[in-house]
Amino acid sequence: MTLYGVGLGPGDAGLVTVRARKILESANVVYTPGRLSRGVAAEYVDGEQLDDLEFPMTRDEEQLRRAWKQAASEVAPAARNGTAAFVTLGDPNVYSTFGHLRRTLDRFHPDVELEIIPGVSAVTAFATALDVEIPAGAELTLREAPDGEAPVGPNRLVLFKVTDVPATDEKLQEAGYAVTYGRRLFMKEYESTITDDADELTERDYYTIAYAEKPEAIEGPASLFE
Ligand SMILES: C[S@@+](CC[C@H](N)C(=O)[O-])C[C@H]1O[C@@H](n2cnc3c(N)ncnc32)[C@H](O)[C@@H]1O
Repeated sequence: MTLYGVGLGPGDAGLVTVRARKILESANVVYTPGRLSRGVAAEYVDGEQLDDLEFPMTRDEEQLRRAWKQAASEVAPAARNGTAAFVTLGDPNVYSTFGHLRRTLDRFHPDVELEIIPGVSAVTAFATALDVEIPAGAELTLREAPDGEAPVGPNRLVLFKVTDVPATDEKLQEAGYAVTYGRRLFMKEYESTITDDADELTERDYYTIAYAEKPEAIEGPASLFE
């Protein structure tokens, strides 16, 4: 009666947690919502146990509702009859479509219980990839910046969904931020790019994150030895 919502981390199978791996290895069926998550899960799950769920690339709410209802009606019987898992990149509870599945199951299949296995989120993994330290006590704001948007204000910003890097960059520079971009971080099968030059990232790629900080507002971490 339990569906496991499993966070896979940012894309490298070596960053899947021990607990997530145990669930994946013991599951009768593992549902994957896309090619990237399927590639990571496939490191620990036999091909016959993997099942792809298709979701339309649309913002049309009615179409999305139908797709999630359909997904829930596939997943619910599998969770009743055995061990079923639904995977997401990063953490299932952080800016994730997993929330849609959870709400749909609650509404139409309330007998299915959910257990979430947290994953390494891009929100924290970016710091290591970009070699950035967020010191204790610092403010850090997480926002989305799709289609050239650039939410500004806070001293330190992590931006998801930076699909139009040059347009977002122009606005961030104007607002006085120093910005570093990370594309496809920790995704072993793909080339990762880490750069502060927006011109290197003119192609649209959903898996792009930005870290922006206002240099004049940031004090470095205090040294213990000075
Ligand atoms: C809908 S959010 C999902 C976040 C995910 N649940 C997590 O906890 O990391 C998707 C956004 O996360 C960022 N992202 C996730 N994984 C990434 C990666 N490996 N490299 C760069 N950005 C990533 C991108 O900005 C992408 O648009």
